[in-house]
Amino acid sequence: MTDTLPEFPGVRAERCPFDPPPRIQALQQDGPLTKVRLWDGSTPWLVTTHAEQKALLGHPQVSADVTRPGYPLSAPRAEGGSLSFILMDDPEHHRQRRMVQGAFTVRRVESMRPAVQRIVDGLIDDLLAGPKPVDLVEAFALPVPSLVICELLGVPYTDHDFFQDNSKTIIKRNVTAEERAAAGGRLFEYLDTLVGAKLDHPGDDLLSQVAGRVKAGELTRSQAAQMGVLLLIAGHETTANMIALGTLALLQNPAQLALLRDAGDPKAVAGAVEELLRYLNITHSGRRRVALADIEIAGQVIRAGEGMIMANDIANRDPGVFPHPDELDLTRDARRHVAFGFGVHQCLGQPLARLELQVVYGTLYRRIPTLALATGLDRVPFKHDGQVYGVYELPVTW
Ligand code: HEM
Repeated sequence: MTDTLPEFPGVRAERCPFDPPPRIQALQQDGPLTKVRLWDGSTPWLVTTHAEQKALLGHPQVSADVTRPGYPLSAPRAEGGSLSFILMDDPEHHRQRRMVQGAFTVRRVESMRPAVQRIVDGLIDDLLAGPKPVDLVEAFALPVPSLVICELLGVPYTDHDFFQDNSKTIIKRNVTAEERAAAGGRLFEYLDTLVGAKLDHPGDDLLSQVAGRVKAGELTRSQAAQMGVLLLIAGHETTANMIALGTLALLQNPAQLALLRDAGDPKAVAGAVEELLRYLNITHSGRRRVALADIEIAGQVIRAGEGMIMANDIANRDPGVFPHPDELDLTRDARRHVAFGFGVHQCLGQPLARLELQVVYGTLYRRIPTLALATGLDRVPFKHDGQVYGVYELPVTW
């Protein structure tokens, strides 16, 4: 019986560079909720519409606790190890999130704009002075958010090869549970050592503040290290993918790119960032949850213990909310998108991600107006195997 259910790969296995897999997007026409089959034979609900996703992500009986039976896993998971707060429920999730959220308020992040602008300008100077073609991922898309999050956390940027390699393994799907656990273990040990150093010699950075919570007895050292792992991974992987994939999408849509390049108004750039977040929705494996009680929604009953996947890439293409959703239209009002999720787990770093993308998109194409892809679109290696979508490399020239 479950064999007849559509399979949900949780990755863009098909070659559809900027769109959700058409086969999965078509499920939206069957109604807000459909049962799907996962890699392990489990059959959670796939929630495809904007309104129902928001209702469920904001529902008090919906859990993000990955250890609960019925949670729809995206890949095999090794038992044990400590969890970061993205995979916990309130009140513990809220208690830990509150300890770091002061660093991510809009005001605090806005004060970083000149520093982010300096980083972006410096990297573009280096690009222009260096050989071409060049891989934009390596030379620009990864360094921008990595430099910013390292500065904020107090992590030495000189270690970037180490943490970028291990982060990549953690969010790849086609690795074994053991390989993923080993990469997680290496990052955990690294952050644990750093937390230890900050305990002895605190600096003016977020990891030192977290270490201060350990000293005050509010966090165990292991919880502090795990929090560092979450912030370090979330802080660079996602934004890096948005920079590279966003650039590729714009190069494929020259009229939209021209609009952005010629936009003198920071509000137009900010609007373009929201539309690219909506259109590309790089967290394409969906927000995963499990029901704690029976929940009635859209004429269906989700039973206690049943898993659900909010396919936010498909909700961002909901025609009831975004007319002509498959078009990239930088002039539309896309602010209702769910690319940062919704509810208590809504992205903590979104003001920082927005700031970085506004500075990047508002600077890169203006300073390098002839930027062009240095290979065919069919040769660009997309992250078909990643839980976060993007490109592995983007050869560009000018
Ligand atoms: C364009 C870039 C980004 C995208 C698309 C993105 C997307 C998301 C999404 C969809 C969630 C919700 C997860 C869920 O509901 O299960 C999330 C959570 C989170 N994000 Fe981001 N993110 C981005 C950048 C960042 C940055 C720069 C940071 C900085 C450290 C960050 C830190 C976090 C954290 C800590 C959480 C967990 C929040 C919680 O559980 O309360 N993210 N992100």
